[in-house]
Amino acid sequence: MSKFSGGSVPVKTLAILGGGGHAKVVADTAQCCGWQSIEIFDDRWPSLQLVGPWPVVGDTSDLLLRLQTFEGVIVAIGNNETRRLKLAELIKAQAPLISLIHPAATISRHASIGAGVVAFAGVVVNPCATIGDGAILNTGCSIDHDCVLGECVHISPGARIAGSVNVGPLSWIGIGASVKQLINIGSNVTVGAGAAVVNDIGDDKTVVGVPAKALDI
Ligand SMILES: CC(C)(COP(=O)(O)OP(=O)(O)OC[C@H]1O[C@@H](n2cnc3c(N)ncnc32)[C@H](O)[C@@H]1OP(=O)(O)O)[C@@H](O)C(=O)NCCC(=O)NCCS
Repeated sequence: MSKFSGGSVPVKTLAILGGGGHAKVVADTAQCCGWQSIEIFDDRWPSLQLVGPWPVVGDTSDLLLRLQTFEGVIVAIGNNETRRLKLAELIKAQAPLISLIHPAATISRHASIGAGVVAFAGVVVNPCATIGDGAILNTGCSIDHDCVLGECVHISPGARIAGSVNVGPLSWIGIGASVKQLINIGSNVTVGAGAAVVNDIGDDKTVVGVPAKALDI
């Protein structure tokens, strides 16, 4: 396919790896950011052909073979560990990884945003926050000053993270949860929907409720 639309303006083509519901929001955000052409890759291809209006054109191995045909590549997989593995595969293959910041997100110029990050509409990231590679900042969440989010963290819609909070790699903060300032959350932690975190949480824990307490599972 030609890389030029009509006249001489080059079409920017983005590859998205992952074809679930999260990928629809990533693709939509990409369009809002000016990506004119979007192709989705998912390991369920060829049985999965379409993600909303966007075509699924191959699986991970097809993407790796065609990397040079894309101006940008991003992973859109909600599961933190799977996203981390796919991201590592793409980095190894020297893919042109991008981050996507929705035009209606407010990101401080004094924040640091890693590679492969998505920040959807309504997100606020305040000064001196550090967002690790592959993080998902979902719709309308806020990350306050001096927070440090590790690799492949997911902050769900509407979650509120107060200042100077550390969130370890692969942790998932549920929809509408709140985290008090200066809290340390370990790696691979799950914070349930609507929880209020007022104490530090160790690695690999699941906590729920107000105030958040460990869930025995
Ligand atoms: C915390 C969570 C991961 C637990 O899931 P799970 O392991 O499948 O647990 P279950 O649904 O079996 O619930 C186990 C118990 O915890 C309770 N529980 C589950 N989630 C809870 C929550 N968020 N707040 C309070 N209690 C909760 C259940 O009522 C149940 O209690 P019971 O044993 O007294 O009946 C999940 O409920 C959750 O909150 N996920 C976040 C969802 C989210 O943010 N989605 C956004 C996607 S972008």
